[in-house]
Amino acid sequence: MADLRINLAGIVSPNPFWLASAPPTNTGYQVQRAFEAGWGGAVWKTLGDPIINTSSRFAAVHFNGQRVAGFNNIELITDRPLEVNLKEIYETKRRFPNHAIIVSLMVEPKQEKWHEIVKKVEAVGVDGLELNFGCPHGMAERGMGAASGQQPDLVEAQTMWAKEAATTPVIVKLTPNITDITSTAKAAVRGGADAISLINTINSLAGVDIDTWHTIPHVGGKGSHGGYCGPAVKPIALHMVADCARNPDVGVPISGIGGISNWRDAVEFMLMGATGVQVCTAAMHHGFRIVEDMIDGLNNYLDEKGLASVSELVGKSVPRYSDWGNLDLNYAVVAQIDKETCINCNKCHIACEDTSHQCIDRLTDENGASYLKVREEDCVGCNLCAIVCPVEGAISMVEVAGTDAPLTWNERQAAIAKLADGKDSNKKEAV
Ligand SMILES: Cc1cc2nc3c(=O)[nH]c(=O)nc-3n(C[C@H](O)[C@H](O)[C@H](O)COP(=O)(O)O)c2cc1C
Repeated sequence: MADLRINLAGIVSPNPFWLASAPPTNTGYQVQRAFEAGWGGAVWKTLGDPIINTSSRFAAVHFNGQRVAGFNNIELITDRPLEVNLKEIYETKRRFPNHAIIVSLMVEPKQEKWHEIVKKVEAVGVDGLELNFGCPHGMAERGMGAASGQQPDLVEAQTMWAKEAATTPVIVKLTPNITDITSTAKAAVRGGADAISLINTINSLAGVDIDTWHTIPHVGGKGSHGGYCGPAVKPIALHMVADCARNPDVGVPISGIGGISNWRDAVEFMLMGATGVQVCTAAMHHGFRIVEDMIDGLNNYLDEKGLASVSELVGKSVPRYSDWGNLDLNYAVVAQIDKETCINCNKCHIACEDTSHQCIDRLTDENGASYLKVREEDCVGCNLCAIVCPVEGAISMVEVAGTDAPLTWNERQAAIAKLADGKDSNKKEAV
């Protein structure tokens, strides 16, 4: 069995699976049950000046038979008194000394407020702090959460204020509601962050009821924007994690969050640079026991790969994630349809004919049977036919041996510039 322990900026946890700061980590009762179920760590539901929550507050996007493909909420930070939370954190840490308890914090962007809450929380014995600069609703209107998390100078200053008082590692949780995630990640690092976590939820409106014309969810007939999470946001989160992981100016450990529902998702985040992961929606959908499959699946995967420790996965795919300008323009794949496996549903033909490159022909064989074949010389290797094909293995994308050497756009442009330069200097010499 591989070693699943992680050490994220000094926070040690028996496995990489933490519950994210959200309803599953609202109380000591819940966090203790989560640890009993196998979760390695928990980020306590955000503490700050307790607020009043609305009823109702959650909504989900069910897509094509899949329940909770995406999840939306307008919940704010904790609505329980600080003292109650602190007492329960203390008790939970005492019962589970080897599990990671990180406490999420959100206060007004004022130095004394950060000092005060950091000291109070650290006094009960926690393994780390997570600064919530991410929630996109409610708190943002009060100048906290995403409102301050969208401004690099405020991220830097607040991180610095928290660090001035903190003795445990400080993780800065980033909002995805920003154009360039690395700008706030770098600001957090400038402020002294020991690690970053991402993503928090994405600005969203789950839907509109076409009968009542109310928003979904609505509070007595009125709605407001909420935060989107769950499986639907995973690709966005994965990109943002990778973007931070490959940026040398970020350079701190990452706790990956966003749409992680199983061990495979966790492995992807770790390959893209996350030291550990956090989960919210999947736990809300399926309960704490999903962590058992996560642990078993990860263990089996590491054994199959011959890896002794989960930390060996971290960042392995980062060098393979680059800018478009570094991709080989002479690399080519084409689609091939396996006649035996194909069920002749015609989905690939329609997709290619209507919306791609018109290179799948319907032919008739010597027995008069109709079949589909790709004209490989016209196929651009876009993958669409394989994507829409309902039968696993019926369409494969196959690499074709190119005659030209690898050439990226950046190399091509550099060569053109050099040529132009040469011409210029020839001209100059002639003059
Ligand atoms: C109902 C709900 C409440 C949340 N509350 C908080 C919070 O108090 N603090 C925080 O940092 N993130 C909060 N989040 C965001 C999650 O911690 C997490 O970043 C986000 O849901 C993405 O992870 P997921 O796709 O696994 O759900 C909340 C999410 C949900 C769904």
